[in-house]
Amino acid sequence: MAHCEEDSSRYTYEEYKQTADWLLSKTEHRPSVAIVCGSGLGALGELLKDQVAFNYIDIPNFPHSTVPGHAGRLIFGNLNGKPCVCMQGRFHSYEGYPLWKVTFPIRVFRLIGVETLIVTNAAGGLNQDYKVGDLMVILDHINFPGFAGQNPLIGPNEERFGPRFPPMSDAYDKDLRKLALAIGEELGFSEKMREGVYCSLGGPNFETIAECKFLSALGVDAVGMSTVPEVIVARHCGLRVLGMSLITNKAVMDYNTEATANHEEVLQAGKDSAKYLEKLVTLLIQRIELNNNVF
Ligand code: HPA
Repeated sequence: MAHCEEDSSRYTYEEYKQTADWLLSKTEHRPSVAIVCGSGLGALGELLKDQVAFNYIDIPNFPHSTVPGHAGRLIFGNLNGKPCVCMQGRFHSYEGYPLWKVTFPIRVFRLIGVETLIVTNAAGGLNQDYKVGDLMVILDHINFPGFAGQNPLIGPNEERFGPRFPPMSDAYDKDLRKLALAIGEELGFSEKMREGVYCSLGGPNFETIAECKFLSALGVDAVGMSTVPEVIVARHCGLRVLGMSLITNKAVMDYNTEATANHEEVLQAGKDSAKYLEKLVTLLIQRIELNNNVF
């Protein structure tokens, strides 16, 4: 029964279109790149020039963000001369949103002409070589909630966005990954640059030690509570994707430690290291080749 109710309250194509048209009518910006800012990484949005910003509560059909460290604004503007739109604050399933709501903005981006999605997040480092402040280019992901039937594409497929069974083996664009790593090197961040596997969990609690050991044994390098649903929906509707994780804490893997993960530590690490991610994304956007493929 709950399932049926959820289905009937899903967004219609017309609602995505209504939001896209509303945004296009309120700004002359025509972004080709969308950026999703993770916890503590919202300052990226402030770098946009000639800003036109909207609070989520003012945008028709948009969900609202409830997490400290996530501002809840959609900012249009130019970053290094490239037209961008930036989500300052994203939606998470742990806030109580179904995944089709969490990913609503991604399809709206597609409809306003976005071609490339850059998703950022704060993540716990499981790989023992990783340090707080490292920047991990996402090579691949594990959709852990997907193993239990949680996927934003569940429900009737909207063919106008993409196919019923989209591949995910090429989710993270190879050229963008290479470019991000090369730019990191060029900026002198080689020591910080990593490439690895991100696993999303539902949250909101941080992981137990056994869970961290389990994920580590599976080959996961970093763990978080976001990103994967957005990437799945972005790939379904044909966006190129780059994912970047800022390692904000080392996952606790040892029973003989007093250390615990906490949100303040995550936000503080974000503040300390966001500048590296900002520099990298800014330069990357300038270098991105766009294919002018209008939806
Ligand atoms: N686990 C899950 N999500 C996170 C973490 C973590 O250790 N750090 C930042 N987001």
